[in-house]
Amino acid sequence: MSLTSVLVLGPTGGFGQFVLSELIRRKVEFERIAAIVDTTRERSKAKSDLLETFATKGVELVKGSPTDSAVYQGFDVVIAILGNHAIRNQPAQIDAAVASGVRHWYPSEFGADLTVPGNWEERYYRDKVITRNYLQQKAAEVKGFGYTYVIYGRFTEWAPLPHFGIYPKQGKANIVGSPEMLQSLVPVKDAASYLIATLLIAPAESERTFRFVGGNYSWTKIFETLGKVQQKTYDIKYKPVDEARDTQKKAIETGDVDLELACSHQVIQGTGRTLVPTPYDNDKFPRIVPASLETTFKNMFEDENMRTILGVNGFFSEVV
Ligand SMILES: NC(=O)c1ccc[n+]([C@@H]2O[C@H](COP(=O)([O-])OP(=O)(O)OC[C@H]3O[C@@H](n4cnc5c(N)ncnc54)[C@H](OP(=O)(O)O)[C@@H]3O)[C@@H](O)[C@H]2O)c1
Repeated sequence: MSLTSVLVLGPTGGFGQFVLSELIRRKVEFERIAAIVDTTRERSKAKSDLLETFATKGVELVKGSPTDSAVYQGFDVVIAILGNHAIRNQPAQIDAAVASGVRHWYPSEFGADLTVPGNWEERYYRDKVITRNYLQQKAAEVKGFGYTYVIYGRFTEWAPLPHFGIYPKQGKANIVGSPEMLQSLVPVKDAASYLIATLLIAPAESERTFRFVGGNYSWTKIFETLGKVQQKTYDIKYKPVDEARDTQKKAIETGDVDLELACSHQVIQGTGRTLVPTPYDNDKFPRIVPASLETTFKNMFEDENMRTILGVNGFFSEVV
C-alpha cells in the first residue's frame, strides 16, 4: 500500500516548508496531511503564522511532544525534516511513532549518499548514521515497519553560501577542493516534488532508497553560471582539504559545533563525496523536470520570498 496518511515532523524549517507546499498542492491524492506542532519548544510568531497558513490550506495541525505516541495516532508515515541539532532526537521519536502504529519513517537525510566511502565516518553525518542504525534495528524487531532514504546530493540554492566558502554578494569564494570536482545538485522545489511522489509508491521491502539529481556540476560550471546571472567575475581561491580539517580540529577544541559541522561538510565536498552515485530514480517520475542551474540561481536573486524561506536573504539580496 502507498503511504497516504502523512505526518511531517519539522514542518516550518528550510526544507520542511517546501515539502508542506508540495503536499498541499497534491492533497487530493492523500487521505490525511498533517504537521506536528512541537509544544515542547518555543515558537516564533512567524512560525506560528506559517502553521496557521498551512492549516487554512488543509493541513491538520497535531499538537504535542514528538516523543509522545499520541501525536502519531492514525498515520501511516512520518517524514522527519529536522535540522542538524535535532537529527539525533529521531530514535526516541521513532519508538513513539511505532508504538502508535506508524509503519514507515522517512529519516531527516535529504543530502549526500552516506554509503559513499568515507561519508559514514564523517562528523557531519554522525546523527544521520545513528538514525540509520536505529531504523535498521527497529525494522528487524517490528514486522511491517520500514523506512525510506531520499538522497539528493545538495540543494542548488544552498550551494553558493558562506557555509561552503561562497559570498555571492561580494563575488568571492574560498573553495575547499578543486575546480573540476563534480557535485550533485537539485533545486529545493524539485527535491520536495520527488519526495512527495515517492509516498505514492508502495514500499516492497522494509528499506528502500531513492536517489534524485538535478545535475552533476563542477565548480567551474557553478561559478560560470553564477557569474552570468550576477554579471560579475568571481574571485575564487581553491584551498586544500587539510586546511578545513585543521579548522575542524580547532572547532572541536573550542566547542564550536556549527563550525565543526561546516568544516566536516567542506571536507566532504572537497573530496567529491557529495557526488551521488548512479543509478538515479528521476525517470520513475518523468513529470518532474528539475530546473536548470541558471534558472535556479536567477530565482535566488529575484525571489525574496524564496530567500526568506531558506533563511539566506542577506547573502543574496544584491539583485542585478
Ligand atoms: N542537501 C542539501 O543541500 C540540504 C540542504 C538543507 C537541508 N538539508 C537536509 O534537510 C533536513 C532539514 O534541514 P533544514 O535546513 O530544513 O533544517 P532546519 O530548518 O534547521 O530545521 C528543521 C526543523 O527542525 C526542527 N528543529 C530545529 N532545531 C531543533 C532543535 N534544536 N530541537 C528540536 N527541533 C529542532 C524545527 O522543527 P519545527 O518546524 O517543528 O519548529 C525546524 O523547523 C536535514 O536533514 C538537512 O541535512 C539538505
